[in-house]
Amino acid sequence: MQPPSIIPTHVSIIMDGNGRWARQRGKERVYGHFEGVESVRAVMEASVDWGIRYVSFFAFSEENWGRPDSEVNTLMGLMLKAMVGELENFKEHGVHFRVLGNRSRLSDELNATIDMIDNETAGGDRLTMILLISYSGKWDIQQAARRMAAAGSDDIEPFLVTSGIPDPDLLIRTSGEQRLSNYMLWQLAYTEFVFTPTLWPDFRKEEYRAAIEEYALRDRRFGKVK
Ligand code: IPE
Ligand code: IPE
Ligand code: MG
Repeated sequence: MQPPSIIPTHVSIIMDGNGRWARQRGKERVYGHFEGVESVRAVMEASVDWGIRYVSFFAFSEENWGRPDSEVNTLMGLMLKAMVGELENFKEHGVHFRVLGNRSRLSDELNATIDMIDNETAGGDRLTMILLISYSGKWDIQQAARRMAAAGSDDIEPFLVTSGIPDPDLLIRTSGEQRLSNYMLWQLAYTEFVFTPTLWPDFRKEEYRAAIEEYALRDRRFGKVK
């Protein structure tokens, strides 16, 4: 497949529709989460191939803690297993893997694994892949504001968990929902949005390319006159 006609620096994705994808097949919701891992891998590999520098995925929101325990536990276990399973793949592709979010709510085992993989892949200089886990935009702004005040500073950016990462150029949300669901409220100030009805487990390289081509048609003015 040809690379898209334009390569954004940072693409961020709200992966949505796993449950509906499974239900459509008469299966349990978790089946959709399992299949969704394949979509993450496809997007990660396409991002490396096309020279995209940052790709971030909203994997679990602060609000998602309110789902039934069984689903939360399955999701946590799945994320742990998937990141360990991908470690060699990350290294092979030059991917630095990071996790951002409210880490204090994650298990010790998950936190230890995240740190291990982040360290092991820190040399990856082709793509930085970020998983947002136990993340919400309001939480991020609140924790940043607290630390900013403690530091006696008035610049919030260095205190957001995304500090050092360029703001997303393109945000994709799958499954037809057209809302932010408390995602990166600060960072998306000038991001272009692409909403697609495709459910996340069906979102693969072709759909990714199509979303970037839609982005390519946008005229970004950043409040200025051209
Ligand atoms: C996205 O799929 C995955 C997470 C939010 C963890 P959903 O689980 O939200 O699937 P739907 O939206 O119910 O179909
Ligand atoms: C947003 O999806 C969160 C993630 C994709 C991790 P949700 O499925 O939780 O969002 P709502 O509830 O439909 O807004
Ligand atoms: Mg959903």
